[in-house]
Amino acid sequence: MTAQIIDGRSLAQQIRETLKFKVSALKKKPHLAVVLVGNDEASLIYDRNKQKAALEIGMKCNIHHLPEDIKQDELNNIVDALNKDKDVNGIIVQMPLPLHLDAKDVLKRISPEKDVDGFGVENLGLLLVNSSQALVTATPKGILKLIQSVEPHLAGKNAVIIGRSTIVGKPLAALLLNHDCSVTVLHSKSVGISDFVRQADIVVAACGNPLFVKKEWVKSGAIVIDVGINRCNGKLVGDVDFDNVRQVAGAITPVPGGVGPMTVAMLLDNTFEAYIKQNKEL
Ligand code: GUN
Repeated sequence: MTAQIIDGRSLAQQIRETLKFKVSALKKKPHLAVVLVGNDEASLIYDRNKQKAALEIGMKCNIHHLPEDIKQDELNNIVDALNKDKDVNGIIVQMPLPLHLDAKDVLKRISPEKDVDGFGVENLGLLLVNSSQALVTATPKGILKLIQSVEPHLAGKNAVIIGRSTIVGKPLAALLLNHDCSVTVLHSKSVGISDFVRQADIVVAACGNPLFVKKEWVKSGAIVIDVGINRCNGKLVGDVDFDNVRQVAGAITPVPGGVGPMTVAMLLDNTFEAYIKQNKEL
């Protein structure tokens, strides 16, 4: 058996096309503000991709590119000004920030209704209580859509998430619980990881450990979602040993071309949602 490859690029493109159509019907363009501090190479690429995707669907997107040595107060003031700016619907502060800056302090300043990354405590709390008002963290929201594209019936499925980050593992656990999965979250201190994975109908690898998930751990027919992006000998690889795991899985996401494009599409989806809530349109 060879797994179905879940094509994140194509699914993300369909979502962007739907958004483009919906945006064209609005009175004003939804506006995403991206705050980028310093010159981290990956962040520069991610933010250019986000801007390109936003502009392509008819949104406004400004990158506020700030110097590496900016002071916390100055950064906070910029976020405060974006909060107040009625033209701005969504704000993201690209992570990671330079080490002298306090990310938690910046993130908690972003107004919950403009927090399109969904990283703030208010949106995380709304997700936890399964509120439709939550702006759901983009990567977990994209992962859910990837899973639903191959399996619409999630109730009772065993989902194992490897990684407990605030950006992926924890919010994804809440999201899958809200869809009636039985969820296990594993992490660097977990014991017997392979035994948990063997029970899983859905495996999500988000541990930043190249080729970590092995073929022998994966149940035949399982859905495997790979969130990892690791550079090994000049090649991008995920957290799943893709070439071997695909021989037993039912469906699997590639790296690149799986989760990454969906994260960008979901960020735009959140910006659209934020605009609608702020303008009470439609
Ligand atoms: N760094 C890595 N992923 C993300 C993301 O989804 N949003 C932001 N703001 N920073 C990131």
